[in-house]
Amino acid sequence: MKKAELLSLLNQMTLEEKIYQLVQLDGGLYSENAAITGPKAKLGISDDVIHNMGSIFNVLGANELRKIQEEHLENSANKIPLLFCADVIYGYKTVLPIPLSYACSWNPDLVKNGLEMVAKETAVAGVHGVFSPVADLVRDPRWGRVMESTGEDAYLNSVFAKAAVEGLQGDLDLRHVASCVKHFAAYGAPEAGREYNTVDMSERRLRQDYLPAYKAAVDAGCKMVMTSFNTVDGIPVSGNKRLLRDLLRGEWGFDGVTISDYAAIKELVYHGYAEDEDHAAKLGIEAGVDFDMKTSVYANHLKALVENNEIDEKLIDEAVLRVLNLKNELGLFKDPFRGADAKIEKEVLYSEENRKVARSLAQESIVLLKNENQVLPLNKNKKIALIGPYANETSLNGLWAFFADKSKVTTLKLAMENKFGENVSYAHGCDIVDDFSLLGDFGFMVQEKLEKRDAKTDLAEALEIAKDADTIVVALGEHTFQSGEAASRTDLSVNEIQIQLLDELAKLNKPIVCVLFNGRPLVLDGILDKVDALVEAWFPGTEGALAITDILSGDVNPSGKLTLSFPINVGQIPVYYNEFKTGRPIVGSGHSSKFVSKYLDIGNEPRYPFGYGLSYTEFEYSDIQLNSNTFKSGSSIKAIVTVKNKGNVKGKETVQLYIQDITGSVVRPVKELKGFKKVDLEPQEARSVEFILTEKDLKFFTKDMQYKAEKGKFKLFIGRNSKDVKEVAFEFISEELA
Ligand code: IFM
Repeated sequence: MKKAELLSLLNQMTLEEKIYQLVQLDGGLYSENAAITGPKAKLGISDDVIHNMGSIFNVLGANELRKIQEEHLENSANKIPLLFCADVIYGYKTVLPIPLSYACSWNPDLVKNGLEMVAKETAVAGVHGVFSPVADLVRDPRWGRVMESTGEDAYLNSVFAKAAVEGLQGDLDLRHVASCVKHFAAYGAPEAGREYNTVDMSERRLRQDYLPAYKAAVDAGCKMVMTSFNTVDGIPVSGNKRLLRDLLRGEWGFDGVTISDYAAIKELVYHGYAEDEDHAAKLGIEAGVDFDMKTSVYANHLKALVENNEIDEKLIDEAVLRVLNLKNELGLFKDPFRGADAKIEKEVLYSEENRKVARSLAQESIVLLKNENQVLPLNKNKKIALIGPYANETSLNGLWAFFADKSKVTTLKLAMENKFGENVSYAHGCDIVDDFSLLGDFGFMVQEKLEKRDAKTDLAEALEIAKDADTIVVALGEHTFQSGEAASRTDLSVNEIQIQLLDELAKLNKPIVCVLFNGRPLVLDGILDKVDALVEAWFPGTEGALAITDILSGDVNPSGKLTLSFPINVGQIPVYYNEFKTGRPIVGSGHSSKFVSKYLDIGNEPRYPFGYGLSYTEFEYSDIQLNSNTFKSGSSIKAIVTVKNKGNVKGKETVQLYIQDITGSVVRPVKELKGFKKVDLEPQEARSVEFILTEKDLKFFTKDMQYKAEKGKFKLFIGRNSKDVKEVAFEFISEELA
């Protein structure tokens, strides 16, 4: 449809019909009995709303969605197709590693490719838009949703947000879907890591660190933005005009559709920001939230607000036009069923090709954290005892992949048996937790499973096979319900029952390799000192176990590097690499060692820093060569290092470039990532790796909130992680001086 046709459609709609276009309800409405007992009755909405609403979410399947669309078009007054959205974040059926894991690949091309595969599976299942990517910057692993984020760094998160949008949307043909970046804004910074808690930070920090990744998604053409539950500076985002209208639409020029998070408009009342639902509807639409997700607040309150002249109908028209425009861009007016195709669905879901995509991303997402005495890679001719609650487990997808079929996930046991044959023996060892209440309100779902096992027998069987083995591989971790939404934790260890198992195995004095399955950085006390090797597998997805065995066997050399620091303990949180300089650093402030910024009981450094990850080979870095020690506006500076693979196996190394602005009009971070390159090196091969820095890379929000580079001296670092770097200096000479 042309713009004029959309406008004429808008003009022929009644006020109610327009308002109902702004309603997005969950697909449960279409289940049997929904009208009698289910969501419809609970929500207090009429059939009229259902027949004319704009969108539903979280129903998938070509046949199912075709049926719903057909029924809807029969009933809808203006024959406007429904927009189908879904929480497909990192996999519909074939599941990729969780985003916190895939970010460790430092390979945006692979991530883009992975999400393109996800889009294809989702589009043929009839869905038009997905609630992905998550661009929330995170620094507090107590928060359960760090698993959906790509980590602690604004630059890297922006790279991945862009890659994700490009992968999901492509050119928005029938094999791609519209993406919805979330959760705008700063949802990843709840106080104390407690889910849905207050977010409060300076405007500078918000703009400098928390906003760039959402902006990168918007700049990449992301069609939708989901508003977050949290407050920013005392104002809930879903009623925050400054953020949604002035910044997102005004400053950034976003002209797509905004969606409130689940019931977030209604929650303005619980925040104490709106007096009642009437007021919440007014605040939401005035702030610029187009879709009211999951509630009847818009449906039941906007009309009276217009009729009483409390809001201008123009606000509704604008929002509806954006919704119609998106439907038009997706081609729904031409073909309301779009990509839904039950035949292709059968061919595409879990196809070999898709599994390959998931496996290669998982291979690069696994991080080798420790490898002493070269216990890894495993010798294929020696006996391996595979033990632990994750050894024969299909729950490897992480929480936000709930449409996938667990039975399609390859277990580590099966993957190890395929790779190492009869040399592998297996024992369960222990459960993930010994107390189902540790899993929160979903715990009851696993209660029965826990009660069925006998802990003593499990341990005895594990010790039996371990005694007979040359190497023990122990698969430990968090339960799926211990991370993800509404899974904040104050204790970041694996459950004591797993530590006890490890204690017993360690008494056998055999080499131990631990493979960890988790959705967040964990506190590793009780594990690290007992194992020779530690492999961070995260929740690696459908093909993750195969990727793990590729690594354990040495068929693939690990290359993943962390994007969220591992704290030593919970008291150290938040600990992240790009902290500000303090007036009393441990080294160089002139104060005695007591009166500096530190803890009495542990050091300031995390257990494993941002950018950290080992390989089976060793990479040597030369000193950094700069083409000049100064540069000015409009020009650039070139930094080169030579990286050599000193070992006998080929490997991939992510070469990372950081800067430090030594003096600024506001205090600057000790390091900031400004570039990275992942290189493939044959044994003994040396390659020169080149980076170009321009004025853009030096910009920040200055004392007067200008986004610009200030003249002055800088440090430039290049290295294998945020701590282990080479260093040189340069100076930026600004226009004012030139
Ligand atoms: O997309 C999600 C969001 O991430 C958290 N709240 C619910 C939404 C829809 O299911």
